Amino acid sequence: MPKTRKSPKVSTETRPKFAIAIMAAGKGMRLKSRHPKVLHQVGGKPMLAYVVAAASRVVPVADVYAIIGYEADRVRDAVSGMGINFVLQEPQRGTGHALMVARDALAGYDHVIVLSGDVPLLWWQTIEQLRDFHLAEKAAMTILTAEVADPQHYGRILRRRAAGPEVQAIVEEGKATAAERELREINSGIYVFAVKPLYRYIDRLGTDNKHKEYYLTDMAALLVKAGERVVASMAADPHAVLGSNTRAELAALDARLRAWKCADLMQQGVTIYYPHTCVIDMEVEVGADTVIEPYVQLLGRTRVGADCRLQSYSVLSDCELGDGVWIKPGCVLETSRIRSRAQLGPYTHLRPGCDIGEEVHMGNFVEAKKSKLGRGSKANHLSYLGDSVIGQNVNVGAGTITCNYDGQRKHQTVIEDGAFIGSDATLVAPLRIGKNAYVAAGSSITEDVPDEALGIARSRQANKEGWVKQRAEAAKKESS
Ligand code: UD1
Ligand code: CA
Repeated sequence: MPKTRKSPKVSTETRPKFAIAIMAAGKGMRLKSRHPKVLHQVGGKPMLAYVVAAASRVVPVADVYAIIGYEADRVRDAVSGMGINFVLQEPQRGTGHALMVARDALAGYDHVIVLSGDVPLLWWQTIEQLRDFHLAEKAAMTILTAEVADPQHYGRILRRRAAGPEVQAIVEEGKATAAERELREINSGIYVFAVKPLYRYIDRLGTDNKHKEYYLTDMAALLVKAGERVVASMAADPHAVLGSNTRAELAALDARLRAWKCADLMQQGVTIYYPHTCVIDMEVEVGADTVIEPYVQLLGRTRVGADCRLQSYSVLSDCELGDGVWIKPGCVLETSRIRSRAQLGPYTHLRPGCDIGEEVHMGNFVEAKKSKLGRGSKANHLSYLGDSVIGQNVNVGAGTITCNYDGQRKHQTVIEDGAFIGSDATLVAPLRIGKNAYVAAGSSITEDVPDEALGIARSRQANKEGWVKQRAEAAKKESS
């Protein structure tokens, strides 16, 4: 019998349309800062960037709206590259007001997930779970809650019954009774609303509170009163919903993120001694078998290869390291590339734009800027190399200085393969030192040195025989 093919089931249910609104308009009074709260950094990135990234995993970026107000331009600029929309809240009259302002933007959606720009550790999976819970419960408002040891400053959740998801109200700390303050289930400031009931009742919010603001938290009691269903879901990990209203809270979030980052790197085969002393930004990548000693900072988009050794007190920002690189203590390296098996430090300073070749050695107190060193070249002591192109197997003697600046413009120094620059040479750019050429120690070189030549530019030494004795005798005569 021939198999009959069943026609695929067509779902009559259309998928509800979700938007995500991120509240990011507040000033953040308790940080005592000139800068908007959501731009304060944890793990090396503004808090808002984490929230936007999580939101963009749950809905298309075109459906993400950041509500901005205080220093709106700066906040917009900080995340504009991520492709989201912005709604301006001016003036900022509370979290309830933030959603009032977003009414038109959200009109075309069935549900809106509301996130706080100052709750950066929230996992996107938690947002999805909350969304699914909201749909399953057919709720008008779903609140993400957490049970915390110290609920101070958070809104508290009043459940209708001890067991069961239904919520009676959210009470803000300022209005809570002594008994309510004992409640340890807190409002995370993260919600899902059905758009229709939200905007049917939002205008009923009042400002009868300490700050004379419209509190979004009051929507819970309002909706309940109107006969709508309000439920709560408790986050499995209370740390994921921690806010950052004070510098101390900010530091706690930062420490948590960085501890997590170190754990993740160790999981990938990186050795980190005293990980709690290392400052490693979230985007940093490190290869297996690399050893990171105490008090190392790896910042920005730094990428470190395998089998490297990064010694104490070195700070690397936006650097790319090959494999087997050895960074000795106290190096400061910015926006540069360091190729495999190079050795830098102690106390090497690379300013932006350096390209350090394989097996290069750069030592104590060598500073370089926009300079390229070819494979196997050495600059081991006390030098400044600026705007220079240095070939392979060049030896740059101690104290060598490229004079790249004439007071008005910068000039380039080219040193060809195999050249030997004696100690304490000043190389006045623009200049070319030829292949295998020598520069005599102590020279001030102002003209090109041809291949295989010796450049020497210093006055001849004269020895005055018997000079010490003659002087002593002259002094004796004078005094007698
Ligand atoms: C809020 C909740 C509180 C909850 C806590 C969780 C209210 C009234 N209270 O308190 O129940 O426990 O979050 O972290 O909502 N914002 C705007 N526009 C405004 C005011 C604030 O966009 O006019 C933004 C802020 O930038 C911030 C977020 O909303 O990202 C939360 O505001 P915040 O002032 O930090 O509220 P909390 O006092 O923490
Ligand atoms: Ca907050």
